[in-house]
Formats: sequence, structure tokens, C-alpha cells
Amino acid sequence: MAKTALITGVTGQDGAYLSELLLSKGYTVHGLKRRSSLFNTDRIDHLYEDPHVNDPKFILHYGDLTDSMNLTRIIQEVQPDEIYNLAAMSHVQVSFEMPEYTANADGIGTLRILEAVRLLGLTKKTKIYQASTSELYGLVQQVPQSEKTPFYPRSPYAVAKMYAYWITVNYREAYGMFASNGILFNHESPLRGETFVTRKITRAAAKIVLGLQDCLYMGNIDSQRDWGHAKDYVEAMYLILQQEVSEDFVIATGVTTRVREFIRKTFAFLGIELTFTGVEENEVGTISAVDTARIAELGIANGEHLKLGTTVLKIDPRYYRPTEVDLLIGNPGKCDEKLGWKPKHTLDMLIEDMATSDLRLFQKDQLLLKEGFGVLNYFE
Ligand code: NAP
Ligand code: GDD
Repeated sequence: MAKTALITGVTGQDGAYLSELLLSKGYTVHGLKRRSSLFNTDRIDHLYEDPHVNDPKFILHYGDLTDSMNLTRIIQEVQPDEIYNLAAMSHVQVSFEMPEYTANADGIGTLRILEAVRLLGLTKKTKIYQASTSELYGLVQQVPQSEKTPFYPRSPYAVAKMYAYWITVNYREAYGMFASNGILFNHESPLRGETFVTRKITRAAAKIVLGLQDCLYMGNIDSQRDWGHAKDYVEAMYLILQQEVSEDFVIATGVTTRVREFIRKTFAFLGIELTFTGVEENEVGTISAVDTARIAELGIANGEHLKLGTTVLKIDPRYYRPTEVDLLIGNPGKCDEKLGWKPKHTLDMLIEDMATSDLRLFQKDQLLLKEGFGVLNYFE
């Protein structure tokens, strides 16, 4: 029998890749999307099926994690075999500005789903995946971090996710539900939201080499993250729900990299060598070498603006966080042993994928500009 899945946060980065994966496995996929005044389905438009076709495999529902009745009705209608709860206000810095909403959506939202499944009598049928996060480790108590490492959350986002983590464990223990946490370390892709650090860097680097932007402004570039590719990570989510026993898993690469190094590698991929000088707010990144052959190979017609000594990176303290998570590095021992999961992408492959995608995106803009259409306004 083909399975039915419900994905909350279907319009997000992970929702899009997970939808693709489950559809490729023959699932019927139902997705929860928020109402918005503009279309918000860019990442999943290629999966869209006209609702008038017979037996559609990809079906969208309007909904919100802050609306219990809406969630309960949708779960009742869909009767899912699996729920992947990916919806969240997922930006750590924004959570300092919207702490109450973040608690409601990211914390209580998870409770609403668990309770709906329980009240609808679906505890034996429906397996639940909760999108937990390495942000739970915050001020890390152990290096690397494993399923046994104590939590020390450092943002309203992480505190909300901590509630979601424990309420998932509690419903599993109290009601015998299959409800598992995937404690996922940072994962990125060309579909990553534009204000997360990796995408901000690959977009800016692509625009700088094309002459569409002068400078990239960053916050704390000393922090370290364990970055993987979202395509690999959604496979781990799927595997977590295929286990006989419900339990929690760290999903990570086991390699950590500083933000500064991610910046250096991205520019290097695009043919620009950066040198970093100065400290803290006064640190800058300047062009110290240009690989003209590489620039030409990437199809960048006009690289004359890329002059040695030009400053293309500055620090803007407005991007500093009130409390920072300095070092994340996961221990992937359990996911390797029990799920047989290993990342297929290295960091260099991830950077290549993201930087190439952004370069192609902005090359199209450059073409429009040349033809006199003007460049669309990109909000940073
Ligand atoms: P994302 O791209 O920001 O997507 C978040 C999704 O949640 C979007 O579809 C968003 O809808 C939706 N959403 C936000 N608030 C909602 C609400 N109140 N009701 C219903 N939907 C809502 O995030 P992601 O990177 O795919 O991450 C997926 C999940 O994994 C999140 O829970 C995140 O916290 C968690 N996580 C992510 C990472 C990572 O590195 N990516 C690591 C660990 C855990 P709109 O499109 O309308 O905004
Ligand atoms: N976003 C952003 N913008 N981050 C910056 C910047 C900047 O201009 N400059 C430096 N950083 C630093 C942040 O301070 C942080 O230390 C690091 O880059 C990564 O920031 P993000 O990419 O915003 O990700 P995050 O680690 O805070 O959170 C992401 O990963 C979590 C898993 O660990 C999000 O996807 C969360 O939803 C997820 O749970």
C-alpha cells in the first residue's frame, strides 16, 4: 500500500526536498502552506498538480501551526501514515525580535500536532517526525555533540525548539506514540532562505564577481558550523520514520568550519582569493588575487571591476546576536550505525552547488540589465 505523508513547512527548503523524495518513493504527499498575499510556493511549483486531475499525489492545504482546529481538521482529513513537522519560524536572529510568536509556532505548534494525533485516535497509525535542531546545544557542554549531550539553548528559537523536543519525547513515552526527534545540524542548498549565512554569502559572492554588488556585510564570522546538504538530510528524516523503534537521532557530518572559511572557499570557487585583515568590527576581506582563467570558465564576461586590494567584505555589528552559538559539530555515530546514513555531499560540493546556482541566477539579471530591463530589487 502506498503511504500518505503530511508535511508541515512544505514551502520551505527541507519541505521541498522532502516532498520530492517521498513522491519519488510513491507516497501521496499532503503539504501545509500558509496563506500569503503573494505566491509562496516557488520551491515546490515544479511538483504542483492541478487539483482537477484524478488521484493527485501532491496536495496542498492552507494552514498554520498556531491554529489547532485547522491542524486537527487537516490531520483528520488526510489520515497520514507519517507527519513531518518541519514548519517553524526558523531564523535564530529573528527569534530575538519575535520571541512570543516563535514560542507559539515552534514550541506549542508541535504540541498541537501531537495532541491532534492523540485526540483523533491515530496514535497507532501515524508516525511523527519532529524537526529538532543542533541549536539545542547552544553553549555547548561537549564536543562533538551527540544524542546524550545536555542542552543549553541560547535563543528564543532554541528554547522553543527545546519545548518541542521534550513534548515529542513525552508523548512517545506517555502514549506509546511513534514520535521521533531528528536533531539536525545546519544543512544548506541552493533553496536555502536568502538570509541564512551560507546563502547570503553565495548570493553576495556571485553578485560581486558579476559587478552587481560592491560589498558583503557580515556579523560574527568566527562561529563554526557543521554544514551539510539539505538533499542528504531529508533522506535521514525519512529513514528515522522507517525504524521499528521510535527514537531520537543526531544528523550531522562530523566536520565543522568557520563562517570565514566558508566565505573564503566560496570566493575561491568563483576565482577570487580573499585576504582577511583586522580584528572584530574592523576586520575586512580584500581581493588579493584574481584567477582570470577561472572567471572566463564560469562565463563571467567582464571581470575588470575585480581589482586587487578592493574591499569586498566588511563587518556590520547589527548582525551580531545577543547570545551566540560559537561551535557546533555533531557526532554522527548513531545515525551511521542505526540508519546507515552518511552524507553524500562534502562542504566543497555544497559550495559548488550553491555558488553555481546563484551565479546562474544573477547572470540572468545581468542579461536583463544589458537589455535595458533593470534589475529586480533583491531585499537583503
Ligand atoms: P525554512 O526554509 O525556513 O522553512 C520553514 C517552513 O515553515 C516554511 O514553509 C514556512 O512557511 C513554514 N512556517 C513558518 N511558520 C509557520 C507557521 N506558523 N505555520 C505553518 N508554517 C509555517 O526552514 P528549513 O531550513 O526548511 O527547516 C525546516 C525545519 O527544520 C524547521 O523547523 C527548522 O527550524 C528545522 N531545522 C532546520 C535546520 C537547517 O539547517 N535548515 C537545522 C535544524 C533544524 P513560509 O514559506 O510561508 O514562510
Ligand atoms: N544569518 C546570518 N547573517 N548569520 C551570520 C551573519 C549574517 O550576516 N554573519 C555571521 N553569521 C553567523 C551567525 O551569527 C551564526 O553563528 C552563523 O553565522 C550561522 O547563522 P545562520 O546561517 O543564520 O544559521 P544558524 O546556525 O543560526 O541557524 C540555522 O541552523 C540551525 C541548526 O543549527 C537555522 O537553519 C536554524 O533553523 C537551525 O535550527
